[in-house]
Amino acid sequence: MRKAIFPGSFDPLTNGHLDILERSAPLFDEIVVAVLNNPDKKPMFTVEERCSMIGEVLEGVKRDGCRLTVESFSGLTAEFARRSGASAIVRGIRAVSDYEYELRMALMNRRLEPEIETVFLMADEEYSYVSSTLLKQVFMLGGRIDGLIPELVEQKMREKLS
Ligand code: PNS
Repeated sequence: MRKAIFPGSFDPLTNGHLDILERSAPLFDEIVVAVLNNPDKKPMFTVEERCSMIGEVLEGVKRDGCRLTVESFSGLTAEFARRSGASAIVRGIRAVSDYEYELRMALMNRRLEPEIETVFLMADEEYSYVSSTLLKQVFMLGGRIDGLIPELVEQKMREKLS
C-alpha cells in the first residue's frame, strides 16, 4: 500500500493546497493531511479548527480512489511520517523561490528517515502566488480572496474577524 503524508501549517487551507492534494491522490492509496501543531506560532485557527475544516473540505475533493484523512502532529515531520507508515512526504512547489527551502527540508528529512522520499508536485500556475500568509493579510485588510480559498474556509475566516 502506498501511503503518503502531506504536511503543513494549513493556517488556513487554500485552493493551492487542494490542487496539490488532487494531483497527488492518483499516486497514492492513502494520503494523510498532517497539520503541524506548532506552539511557537500564533495561528489564526487552532489546530483542532484547522483539522475540522480540512476534514469537511476533503469530502468534496477529487480523490481518484485514494483515501484522504487528516491528523494533527507535533515534533518532526519525518518521525510522524514513519509512525504513520508512510513511504512519502508530499510537498508543493509554486515557484523557484520555494525550491531552496524545500530542498533543505527534503534533504534533512531524508537524513532523518532515509526510507521516506519527498515527492514534489508543481502547483497550477493559477495558484503560484497563493500562500496562507498572503491570503490572511489580504483578507484582514478587506481584500477579495474568493476563488483562492475553499468557501467554507473563507466563511470561517469571516466568523473569526467578527
Ligand atoms: O505549510 P508550511 O508552514 O510550509 O509547512 C512547513 C512544515 C510544517 C512542513 C515544516 O515546518 C515542518 O516539517 N515542521 C515540523 C518540524 C520539522 O520536522 N522540522 C524539520 C524539517 S526538515
